Amino acid sequence: MSGRLGGTLAVITGAARGIGRATATEFAAEGADLVLLDVAGDIDGVPYPLGTQSQLDTTARLCGKFGGSVTAVSVDIRNSSRVKEVLAETLDQHGRIDVLVNNAGLVSPSGKPVHEIDDDEWQVMLDVDLTGQFRMMREVLPSMLRRGAGSVVNIASTAGLVGYRHFAGYVSAKHGLIGLTRAASLDYAPKGIRINAVCPGSVYDDPELESVMMAEIARCLDLPAGDSERAFVASQPTNRLVRAHDVARAVLWLASDESRDVTGSVVAVDGGFTVR
Ligand SMILES: NC(=O)c1ccc[n+]([C@@H]2O[C@H](COP(=O)([O-])OP(=O)(O)OC[C@H]3O[C@@H](n4cnc5c(N)ncnc54)[C@H](O)[C@@H]3O)[C@@H](O)[C@H]2O)c1
Repeated sequence: MSGRLGGTLAVITGAARGIGRATATEFAAEGADLVLLDVAGDIDGVPYPLGTQSQLDTTARLCGKFGGSVTAVSVDIRNSSRVKEVLAETLDQHGRIDVLVNNAGLVSPSGKPVHEIDDDEWQVMLDVDLTGQFRMMREVLPSMLRRGAGSVVNIASTAGLVGYRHFAGYVSAKHGLIGLTRAASLDYAPKGIRINAVCPGSVYDDPELESVMMAEIARCLDLPAGDSERAFVASQPTNRLVRAHDVARAVLWLASDESRDVTGSVVAVDGGFTVR
C-alpha cells in the first residue's frame, strides 16, 4: 500500500466526528489501515451529545473508500478492561499497532469557577481527558516496545498551554496530558517510540465533520447563539478559526516517519493564539 502511512496500522480514539473524523480520513487517504474507536453514546453528567454509532459508522465508510482496512469499535476509554480487550483484539487481528492517536475528549461539564465544581464534574473531565489517554498508552506501548517502533500523538489543546476562565477541569486535564506526553517521551525515546502532543486552538465546527465543540464552549460561556464564532475569531491573530483538517495534517506528520527525530514536542495548531 502506498502513501505516507502505507503499511501502517493506526488506532484513533474519538473517531466518530470532528477532529477524529478528519484525522481518520487524512490517514486513510495516505494508506493507513485503521481501527476507529469512540464511546458512541452519551456519558452521565456530560451536558452535550457525544458521538454516536451512526457517526462512527459514517467515519468508517468515508475511510473505507480509500481501500485500506477499517474497523470501527465502540469503547469508553474510562473502562480499563474494555480498553484492554479492544486493543488485544486489534493486536490479534493485525499483529501490530504502529500509531496511536489519543483524540477522544470532553470539553464539559465546564462553565463555572473552581469552588462550584463538584466531585463528579471534576472526575469525569480528568477520567476522559487525562486518565483515558494514559489507559490507551499503557495498553498500546508494550506492543510498540516489542517491535521497537511506534508513534503516539496526544491531542491536547491550547488549554494545555494557557488558562481559560471557567474551564478548570479541561485546562487541568490538558496541562496534565502535555506533562504525560513529555514524561513518556523520555521513557520511550531510547526504544524507538515517539510521543508528541498537538494543541489545536479554536476549531471551526465543520458541519461535514458533525463537530460541536465550539458550540458547547460558547454555551458554557453564555455567549449568544449565532454570535459565538465572531467572538472566537476576534481572539485569533489570523482572524479565522482553525480547520480540523489542518490539525489532522499535523497529526499525520507526527504519525509518519517524516517526523522521526521529533519526540516530546508540543505542536500548536492555533493560528498564533498562544504566541501572544
Ligand atoms: N474543537 C476544538 O476547538 C478543539 C480545540 C482544542 C482541542 N480539541 C481537542 O480535540 C479532540 C477532539 O475534539 P473535537 O472538537 O473533535 O470534539 P468532538 O466532541 O466532536 O469529538 C470527540 C469525540 O470523542 C468521543 N469521546 C468522548 N468521550 C469518550 C470516551 N470516554 N471514550 C471514547 N470516546 C469518547 C466523543 O464521542 C466524540 O466523538 C478533543 O480531545 C478536544 O479536547 C478540540
